[in-house]
Amino acid sequence: MPKTSSAQGRDFLSTGYSPPAEGAKAFFDKSHINFPLGFLDLHSVPEYFWIPAAYRPSSWSVDFSEMASGQLARAEALACSGCRHACHVMLYADTKTQLFGRIPIKHIILMQMRFDGLLGFPGGLVNPSKETLEAGLSRELSEELGVAIPISAENHMESCHAPASSPSSSHLITHFYVKKMEEEQIMEVERAAASTAADHGLEVLGMVRVPLYTMKGGGGLASFLSHSFIGNARSQLVDSLLRFNLVSPKELHKALTHSLKIHTHTAEDLQAALVLTEVKRKQF
Ligand code: APR
Ligand code: MG
Repeated sequence: MPKTSSAQGRDFLSTGYSPPAEGAKAFFDKSHINFPLGFLDLHSVPEYFWIPAAYRPSSWSVDFSEMASGQLARAEALACSGCRHACHVMLYADTKTQLFGRIPIKHIILMQMRFDGLLGFPGGLVNPSKETLEAGLSRELSEELGVAIPISAENHMESCHAPASSPSSSHLITHFYVKKMEEEQIMEVERAAASTAADHGLEVLGMVRVPLYTMKGGGGLASFLSHSFIGNARSQLVDSLLRFNLVSPKELHKALTHSLKIHTHTAEDLQAALVLTEVKRKQF
């Protein structure tokens, strides 16, 4: 989170449903909590719902109470009978590399193009009656990335019900993790994902890095965020960018504003493509 050390922000935020510590109100009252909500589709940012009602700025005119119920404490999630569980992780590293020798890349964040054409994080379905969440996630990572990456409970960020809009979301609880690695380790993951991973070309069409910079004309993060994501993966990404200070709130604000404009153009493009297809369809 901005103006908060990542360790402090993470420790505090990962308390999830626990009553906030003393002084939390001041923390939540900071204006930085406000900004993404003014520009995003509110239904696409469910991870913000952990903010207790008492600490929500009065400027928030939307009642979050119903959506807040999507959030679960880890123990509560595991106690859910009849629920399926999926674990996904954001792997990232710092880098000094510069694009075109002048644009700092700053951080490498790994996502993937999934079999369903949507962007998401590596991971998948786990069976808590046979394995811990973390062991299940490591197993999924071996299949999708071709390397064993140890994940611990310390990497756990949040658990929540999958949004009703996501495919196969019925009785599905998603657990989200974040793990920081060295740049060389991330590069090794990328190499293995395209060579030895069992799921390469099948459930995983390719790993992608998230561009965190904004170029002249707005290319970069804004364009990336305007793509289509599985479930709440986009909001998990946005939340993590803030939580770990990977992009400044100001830059993210700008990128999200531009993403919405791109979205409008995309709708127009799709409409034009549809009209063209309609003409061809009638010819054959
Ligand atoms: N937020 C919410 N839901 C998500 C997210 C996310 N960030 N990422 C994935 N999901 C949902 C997917 O829609 C899917 O239903 O979690 C479920 C499992 O995640 P996957 O990574 O797709 O699961 P995986 O074990 O890798 O298997 C791939 O094989 O059997 C099929 O349909 C099954 O989607 C599954 C696929
Ligand atoms: Mg998967």
